[in-house]
Amino acid sequence: MNWGMQNRLARIIKPEDNRAVMLAVDHGYFLGPTSGLEQPRKTIEPLLSYADSIMLTRGVLRTSVDPKSDKPVVLRVSGGTSILKELSNEDITVSIEDCIRLNVSAMALSIFVGSEFEKETLVSLAKLVDEGEKYGIPVLAVTAVGKDMARDVRYLGLACRIAAELGAHIVKTYYCDDFEQLIESCPIPVIIAGGKKTPEMEALELAHNAVTHGAVGVDMGRNIFQSDSPVGMIKAVRSIVHEHVSVKEACKIYESEKGVKARRAAG
Ligand code: R5P
Repeated sequence: MNWGMQNRLARIIKPEDNRAVMLAVDHGYFLGPTSGLEQPRKTIEPLLSYADSIMLTRGVLRTSVDPKSDKPVVLRVSGGTSILKELSNEDITVSIEDCIRLNVSAMALSIFVGSEFEKETLVSLAKLVDEGEKYGIPVLAVTAVGKDMARDVRYLGLACRIAAELGAHIVKTYYCDDFEQLIESCPIPVIIAGGKKTPEMEALELAHNAVTHGAVGVDMGRNIFQSDSPVGMIKAVRSIVHEHVSVKEACKIYESEKGVKARRAAG
């Protein structure tokens, strides 16, 4: 692996503990103004210092993140669909030249294994890896799950392994039962998405289970920015990923930050 590739990967997965906290705010690329992300800058700014990296589209990067920020950027480069149409019909939406101009640390693309446009998305992944290899930019494959697919280890293990075989450098997937099996059969680092908003305790349990069973970290969005205390949640998730605290301890961090917010609001 060339120096640039290794250096960029080390910006995302911290070499000190081989762990990663990625803040996902790319949802608008097919969902439009997602709840909690209506004004991306307002959402992102208070959270940025607690994330190791941020995953977003180039539109939100340009408009809502200070270019003087040194936060590593994982740029979503696949899309072209909306929730109103077949979601798997994605293509690559950003050129490698723009990724270089934007100084990204990794490029993220969704693969839709088992969906209508499975082949197209897998070929896009392979092409993106070729481009990334030329310039030392890693590729994060996102295992998107179609409506009719089960989020079980058989399916997610298949999708993650295919992503790795096609050359992805990191894969993002969902936590599932028997997650260790997925980790064992996937030769690249795995991070987990948070998924739909759940009660805070459940989201913290998910993060804890994932890292305990072999994920290098999380790429979490809605369970952070849709929480009643987004700062509390990201601090709590960070303490699980990097400080190995228990769910109970992490929950106290969230509750305490929530209390601070309530006191501030009360004046
Ligand atoms: C899907 O829209 C994106 O790839 C998200 O970045 C991903 O699903 C992680 O966000 P969340 O934790 O909200 O699922």
